[in-house]
Amino acid sequence: MIIAIDGPAASGKSTTARAIADHLGYIYLDTGAMYRTLALAALRYAEEGWDEPVAQVLKETEVDVAYAGDGEMRIFLDGEDVSEAIRQPEVGTMASRISARADIRDKMVALQREIGHAAEPGVVVDGRDIGTVVFPDAPVKVFLTADLEERARRRQQELQQKGQDASLPAVRREVEARDRADRERSVAPLRQADDAVVVDTTHLSVEEQVQAIVDLARNASNAA
Ligand code: DC
Repeated sequence: MIIAIDGPAASGKSTTARAIADHLGYIYLDTGAMYRTLALAALRYAEEGWDEPVAQVLKETEVDVAYAGDGEMRIFLDGEDVSEAIRQPEVGTMASRISARADIRDKMVALQREIGHAAEPGVVVDGRDIGTVVFPDAPVKVFLTADLEERARRRQQELQQKGQDASLPAVRREVEARDRADRERSVAPLRQADDAVVVDTTHLSVEEQVQAIVDLARNASNAA
């Protein structure tokens, strides 16, 4: 069973997807982490001033996903565990930039399908194009959203928990700019699949949003 969750930045996708996966005994596949890993490679490339063209470096960069004993997804860049390093805000911004490239998306989508189709009994996948491009036949598709103000507040809190201070207006601008770029790109833009269920989390607790999607998954598997 594939549960596809798409939505804008900081809409609660990863928290919700991880909790649903725990609840159902599925794995959680964070596709944003994959784009972030290539973005980290691109940022390092820029820092070191390598002379190979960046497209070539990104093509040759190996991205691997593994699951720890507790089910936590870890992500590797050429064998190095970068699961924490990819969470810096500048990596997110670079991920949004490089994810507009068709060659990069093709490489990541192939890996996402490989992991998704092998997952037993199921997988919760979150991203921007999961219900529209990666798994258009997923039996459960959710478009998770929340007001911009609420999303900015959540992102700021997340940063504060990691000891990074950022003003609310600055975080709001970053989230808004990223959504605009993700929605307006020509390849696989962020959009709601026609058959996705919209879950607006502005006034929902994490437990409520998890329960709503677990119910959708149970109905889908009963109907199958
Ligand atoms: O969900 P996130 O913030 O970790 O994602 C980082 C960026 O990666 C996001 O701005 C757009 C891109 N992305 C994408 O284009 N397609 C996906 N399936 C997931 C993320």
